[in-house]
Amino acid sequence: MKPLIKTRLFTPGPTPLLLEAQARALASNFNHRTEEFRRLVRETIEHLRYFFNTQNDVLLFASSGTGAMEGAVTNLLSPGDRVLVGTAGKFGERWVGLAEAYGMQVSKVEAPYGHPLDIEEMRRQIESAGPFRAVFVQATETSTGVTHDVKALGEMVRSLPETCLIVDAITGLGTMDLRPDEWGLDVVIGGSQKATMIAPGLAFASVSDKAWKQIERARCPRFYFDFAKERKSLAKGESSYTPAITLLVSLHAALEYLRAFGRENLIANAALLAEAARQAVKALGLKLFAQHSPSNAVTAVCAPQGMDSGAIIKAMRERFGAVVANGQGSMKGKIFRLAHLGYYDACDLFSAIACLEVVLAQLGCSIELGRGVAAAQETYLRLQSPALASVTA
Ligand SMILES: Cc1ncc(COP(=O)(O)O)c(C=O)c1O
Repeated sequence: MKPLIKTRLFTPGPTPLLLEAQARALASNFNHRTEEFRRLVRETIEHLRYFFNTQNDVLLFASSGTGAMEGAVTNLLSPGDRVLVGTAGKFGERWVGLAEAYGMQVSKVEAPYGHPLDIEEMRRQIESAGPFRAVFVQATETSTGVTHDVKALGEMVRSLPETCLIVDAITGLGTMDLRPDEWGLDVVIGGSQKATMIAPGLAFASVSDKAWKQIERARCPRFYFDFAKERKSLAKGESSYTPAITLLVSLHAALEYLRAFGRENLIANAALLAEAARQAVKALGLKLFAQHSPSNAVTAVCAPQGMDSGAIIKAMRERFGAVVANGQGSMKGKIFRLAHLGYYDACDLFSAIACLEVVLAQLGCSIELGRGVAAAQETYLRLQSPALASVTA
């Protein structure tokens, strides 16, 4: 029998698309130099402020998230500036690569893959090896599935007038409590293919007053990702260059949905699914790659002893159309990653765990079918809050 298979994304970006947002984009036919489109841009920026939980400026670029990361480097720094990067995975390494590409002197605090950053070591570096112009970090390190204590970092950096804290929250936004204004997160970066439930192609950056002051003095060359130029354009409801119109229309629609659903509910949803996934994985006798400070965005799971995680990923995709992410770099073949950010629900998770059980059994693992699903269900029953129930009803 030939099985009917639907494709379902369980990757931490791209994530499943919100159908209403896609449909709105398909039905739109805008020219961007019109009042109608300017209104849409202004509303989108307001919605983004809500999503970021900030009163700071939020900028928008037609690029993947890395574009805004690069923009943060070139807009806030001058060649030769000293910077500190807290790195715990492939995306922390991206900050290092970006800062080095523009001639910064980079100091690093490194955590082994699967571990969160040692925040006290960051404090020691900031206090004894500074001054640094910028401290770079991930809110959540998607390659390993850990979360970092950006609130504590904000407390360290906010009293230093010459240092900005730059947070890659590309998978942190919509999956964890983030308070840029209260915590002193000077630049926060996001990307469209994550918790905002739309396709890849837009990058976001919130910028604090302290960061704007640093931008005035910074001398790195910049052109497309010129933050000050983009701020001026966005104030008029425009972008400096041709905007990604269809993506903006779907972003506007998705953010309307998210505003009605509620930022805190979105975060609570990711937290619930992540905890249920962790309990399921443990019940199946598998090991979590991130033992401490696991993120709500993605759960990284170690492949059973002697098995390449690629075999699990291949079987999940071929048998069930369930697209799960492999490890990146040296983690490839050792872990697989199951996402929870954005448009995922309990039904997605229950079925992913059920499929995983079948795949593991077929690959010869001795597991008891249903154990992981039961653990996920029990966690769901334990944690499902009445507030979330009333919103989703
Ligand atoms: C934490 C983090 N930082 C940076 C990126 C890079 O974003 P993009 O691929 O949109 O450039 C990703 C993408 O997965 C990410 O998860």
